Amino acid sequence: MESPIKIGMLDSGVGGFSVLREVATALPGHPVHYVADNAWCPYGNKPPRDIRARVLRIADHLIDQGCGLIVVACNSATIHGVEMLRATYPLPFVGMEPAVKPAAEITRSGIVGVLATEASIAGEKFHRLVTAHARGVRVITRPCPRFVELVEEGTLDGPEAEAVVRFEVQPLLDEGADVLVLGCTHYPFLRPVMEALVPPSVTILDTGGAVSRRVGRLLESAGTGPLTGGRGASLVIETTGDLPHVTRLLPVLLPEPGRPVSVRHVDLLSGEAMP
Ligand code: DGL
Repeated sequence: MESPIKIGMLDSGVGGFSVLREVATALPGHPVHYVADNAWCPYGNKPPRDIRARVLRIADHLIDQGCGLIVVACNSATIHGVEMLRATYPLPFVGMEPAVKPAAEITRSGIVGVLATEASIAGEKFHRLVTAHARGVRVITRPCPRFVELVEEGTLDGPEAEAVVRFEVQPLLDEGADVLVLGCTHYPFLRPVMEALVPPSVTILDTGGAVSRRVGRLLESAGTGPLTGGRGASLVIETTGDLPHVTRLLPVLLPEPGRPVSVRHVDLLSGEAMP
């Protein structure tokens, strides 16, 4: 008899909703518990030690809440924390990986642009990924902290979003990049603006769908399957930050959750890293 597994998810804020929307749709029978660490957002400018302290604290909490699998829906947290999480807890962790490998396979110009946080770009795990999969390809990296701010404000289109996206993306196009990798879970929310600005010959890649399929396969091998039938199981969203603000963002970022949603505040202080 199949039984649901509660899926835990975490991000520095609401960016991980770009992964959550895929997971919630593809795996409707499994409850999801998402922690948005808004009080500590952004992670992208934090030292690895602080990022690790945060993800450890949040993973502890998600395990207390009964999660049996955790999606680290944040590239910065994955790059600096997923190996530590796997070494600390016995449950499966699914992390994000910027789509450098598929980008290197499809580029025709031999130039790939990776948009990601400063923390991700500086990470050893990211360098290993580039060395292993982008041999012979020029990888240009670009941190876009303004993208995170826009998404956290709920500004996904309009003149301001267009100006910021143009400012960040144009230099990569000028260098000849024909594939753009969205290596931060906040950035896919600006993908429609980006698609309208870049020439049709440029491909944009993100990994939310692939991560959700990986979660489905893990659940299957744990014997619970995707549980695709029936009404959606519950979705709990907790923020360490401003509850009314996150509640207002929900219809903008997650308009069709396909399941009952409850949103609440949670205090997750850790001794190591302060906001
Ligand atoms: N969404 C996160 C990522 O994927 C972090 C963005 C931030 O907090 O700077 O890297």
